[in-house]
Amino acid sequence: MAGASALVEQFARRYPASGTPRVWRAPGRVNLIGEHTDYNLGLVLPMAINLACRVAAAPSNDGFLRAFSQQLGAGSQWRIGDIPHASPAGDWTDRVVGIAWELFRRGFDVRGANLLIDSDVPLGSGLSSSAALGVSLALALGGPREPLELAQLARAAEMDFVGVPCGIMDQFIAASGREGAAVLLDCRSLDSRVVTLPSGIAIVTANSMVKHQLGDSAYRTRVEECAAASRTLGIRSLRDAELAKLGALDGILLKRARHVVTENDRVERFVEASEAGNIAQMGRLMNESHASLRDDYEVSCEELDFLAETARHVEGVYGARMVGGGFGGSTVNLARADAVGRLEDALKTKYRDAFGRTPEVHVCIASAGASEIFP
Ligand code: GLA
Repeated sequence: MAGASALVEQFARRYPASGTPRVWRAPGRVNLIGEHTDYNLGLVLPMAINLACRVAAAPSNDGFLRAFSQQLGAGSQWRIGDIPHASPAGDWTDRVVGIAWELFRRGFDVRGANLLIDSDVPLGSGLSSSAALGVSLALALGGPREPLELAQLARAAEMDFVGVPCGIMDQFIAASGREGAAVLLDCRSLDSRVVTLPSGIAIVTANSMVKHQLGDSAYRTRVEECAAASRTLGIRSLRDAELAKLGALDGILLKRARHVVTENDRVERFVEASEAGNIAQMGRLMNESHASLRDDYEVSCEELDFLAETARHVEGVYGARMVGGGFGGSTVNLARADAVGRLEDALKTKYRDAFGRTPEVHVCIASAGASEIFP
């Protein structure tokens, strides 16, 4: 992917009549633990990574908003005055229009602009390419600079315009990531704190290269099931549920609630283990998280189970789990730094033999949240 100055040159070629653009960047993320807890107002522990979306932007001065994606080789344009009445088209441009639409809704002065977008967060990888795009666009179009407000705006666009009933985790970490650390977020109070990871470890993602169609509808169903479980328990959200008091639930709702309650507990224990330098315990909690997502929450798939299981047999790997919404996308692995080469080889060879595709393996470097990177 192009760095900031290369993107500026590409911008000048695509929009020769435009002035020099400014460039914003927002990172993708890996979530260490706390999966499907954010929309239940629970705990999450994501880390912004060294894969990111960049947006170059300059005023268009003709009342149009234009966007071109280098990654997709496609673009589109809209009359700025039409945006408050726009409806979703069902493709990537919804993220562009959705951010502008949400900015209008919140009273921002949205002007015509030419945008050139480039990203190296693989689409559908479970590493949050959408939030990286939404947050960088919100900055490029003059949105709020305060990270929490920025994240809330980008999430509102995703929910209310694009129509994905997501939690706040992805936009939060794209806006608020910290170099060299993960960030613990309480999705009820929105309090957060930086969590430093033990030294000598590596956080490695493996992209299964599949995204099952079922994913989107299953996500929505899980959100609804959790709301139904909360109603039955007479509480605002599953954050307020206790394991011992899930007796009023049975069947699917019991399984979903049990995942959320135990996963919140695992996040707390993972943070304690990380701060105590207990890497083996961190790994065990990741393995337990995967089992709970597979058996109780039922959002894994055979490719993710295979990648996690394969990783666990590699010497120097402490734990592995699926990351993000599920039904494809990536796994996250906790390994000793010197085991990364072995892990990568094992995942690539065994997964290719089993599924005929080579997983993309990425060693994550904890990165800062969104910012302007040019000039
Ligand atoms: C997706 C959503 C997040 C979160 C995860 C699951 O990434 O965008 O809000 O719910 O799935 O933890």
